[in-house]
Amino acid sequence: MDVVISDAVKYIGVDDKTIDLFESQYVVPEGISYNSYVILDEKIAVMDTVDKRGMNEWEDKLLKALDGKKPDYLVISHLEPDHAGSIERLVELFPEITLVGNDKTFRMMPQFFSFPIESNTLKVAEGDTLSLGTHTLHFAMAPMVHWPEVMVTYESSEKILFSADGFGKFGALDAEEEEDGWACEARRYYFNIVGKYGAQVQALLKKAAAWDIACICPLHGPILKEDLDYYLNLYQTWSSYQPEDEGILIAYASIHGNTGEAANQLAEILRKKGAPKVVVSDLARDDMAEVIEDAFRYDRMIVAAASYDGGVFPCMQDFLHHLQSKAYQNRKVGILENGSWGPTAARTMKGILETMKNLTIVEPVVTIRSTMKESDLPAMEQLADAML
Ligand SMILES: Cc1cc2nc3c(=O)[nH]c(=O)nc-3n(C[C@H](O)[C@H](O)[C@H](O)COP(=O)(O)O)c2cc1C
Ligand SMILES: [Fe+2]
Ligand SMILES: [Fe+2]
Repeated sequence: MDVVISDAVKYIGVDDKTIDLFESQYVVPEGISYNSYVILDEKIAVMDTVDKRGMNEWEDKLLKALDGKKPDYLVISHLEPDHAGSIERLVELFPEITLVGNDKTFRMMPQFFSFPIESNTLKVAEGDTLSLGTHTLHFAMAPMVHWPEVMVTYESSEKILFSADGFGKFGALDAEEEEDGWACEARRYYFNIVGKYGAQVQALLKKAAAWDIACICPLHGPILKEDLDYYLNLYQTWSSYQPEDEGILIAYASIHGNTGEAANQLAEILRKKGAPKVVVSDLARDDMAEVIEDAFRYDRMIVAAASYDGGVFPCMQDFLHHLQSKAYQNRKVGILENGSWGPTAARTMKGILETMKNLTIVEPVVTIRSTMKESDLPAMEQLADAML
């Protein structure tokens, strides 16, 4: 796909529409893009490379953009293989190229590569600049905005922020935009991939506030050129762990379907009582990353699960551990359990939830026995009221 940035800044990234799972974990029905750029000036800079899976196509695009010239610099924002996977090939093509990274980049590089990297390197630190001619690169460290060595680059003449994994999104560039636009897949990407590092994203947003940004060039997903406040504000909300929308996610884990039925009935009760929005997800079948996205999106969540071997049905345990690892916090949570002889799901779920920051666990915790009965309705109604 032809992506136009400017006369001097060329897109040389590639779409990957055949990968089964991104990072061996995330379904990407619309694929993913590995973005890479070239800045053509008196000096030429390549901004990151691509995953090995897209190397050949990227190489063709790179050579076409260079039009017989040689690149002077490769700026390495991030060493994860989805971006650094073609560095070795670039060095093979242009042995005189200078690799630009920070102290952590160069300390980590030998773990990934066996080619000698000592000779042509330029180590940059916070606030350093590199002039390419009319273009000037300003480097800012963004540690843990995915990995410790991550840095972003602000190009001041065209006001472009090369934001590394920040502002990235699942989906190939030539895929049709989702119904609800950029945010849907960008949010799933954010919470699952960078979610744990809200404080570090906040630190990066503070730095970004000092730059006049006209364009954001991330390492995945579309180049953002208009209405940048929309994206920056969403990142502000997400990274501060504030809910984006009012609503209730009901995530259930059910073996034979009875807990699922109770979860759907609870959703109906909530809707009748005027709940703003209720979303029901089946943890055994729905995309876990999508449910995690919704947990962060809404201000309230109800977890409903069958008891299992003195604990909780494993997909619920997995879900809660994911939330724990992504620093889920600041939300109101309701609990429903099911068991046939000695319900243990609520206790197990509560135990994990209690390790998370600033969660309000609402009462009553509802226990149903095998199937939901008329007699369970008063407790369900009470839980619904407590959630509203
Ligand atoms: C492998 C397995 C382990 C279970 N362990 C427990 C348990 O420890 N305590 C309990 O009360 N019920 C236990 N149950 C029963 C279920 O939790 C119970 O039948 C529940 O109603 C299932 O809800 P569901 O229809 O949503 O799957 C277990 C069921 C299975 C299949
Ligand atoms: Fe990454
Ligand atoms: Fe990435």
